[in-house]
Amino acid sequence: MTLIAHLSDIHIDTADGDRSAARTRAVMDYLEDLPVDLDAVVVTGDIADHARPEEYGLARELLLGSRHPVLVCPGNHDDRAAFRQGLLGLPGSAGPINQVFRTSGCVIALCDSSVPGKDEGFLEDETLAWLEEVLAGTPAGTPVLVGFHHQPVPLHTPYVDQWRQFGEERLAALTRRYPDVAGFLCGHTHTATATVFAGRPLLVAPGVVSALRLPWEHPAVPSPHVHLGLPPAVAFHVLDGDGRLTTHYRIVDASSGLGSGR
Ligand SMILES: [Fe+2]
Ligand SMILES: [Fe+2]
Repeated sequence: MTLIAHLSDIHIDTADGDRSAARTRAVMDYLEDLPVDLDAVVVTGDIADHARPEEYGLARELLLGSRHPVLVCPGNHDDRAAFRQGLLGLPGSAGPINQVFRTSGCVIALCDSSVPGKDEGFLEDETLAWLEEVLAGTPAGTPVLVGFHHQPVPLHTPYVDQWRQFGEERLAALTRRYPDVAGFLCGHTHTATATVFAGRPLLVAPGVVSALRLPWEHPAVPSPHVHLGLPPAVAFHVLDGDGRLTTHYRIVDASSGLGSGR
């Protein structure tokens, strides 16, 4: 069994009075306090709200000090060069940030769906070729989770669906050739959501910094698109050896500073 925590959209903003950092800290404290080791913590993008070096510095402190392996990919609020430098400790460059992580029970392939200067998402040809190489190089029978920031299908959330991942038929065609793709993980919509893409589960992490206001909920002033008052949350994905995926969503009490509730 493989156990993965999945959070997203922490939007670290060093000028927001510690709001984003406190919520992220609460989630990470909750994960640190678990009595088990996680196989991975996956953070699917929108790490720094304005892609500033100091935001990445704080995000690095909050996320990468964990005792669990933490994997991060960029979102539309991130900047590839600043992300590489500030979070990964690599020289800044503008190419897509694609990373693979192999646990004893599965492979996690994190793809860069960001498009420099735009809010919508797209997997560049280079990224799809990289993903195909990862899939082709993975022994048959090993489940693979594919993560990225932008959802590749509309989720009945018009505000964020206008900036979803486009060109998704290319990813769907690739997926159909690899039955070991157990599911897709993404963020961007700031809401816990489950659906299907290319015949596999598509699991969306809740937003840490805020929650999307769904179109059938009351609009509000001054934030018509997001709830700022709802607590942060995290997803747990449990992957069985046969590739079956189970997801639990857990709300974290940010006000206590630690969500364990022991
Ligand atoms: Fe976001
Ligand atoms: Fe986003």
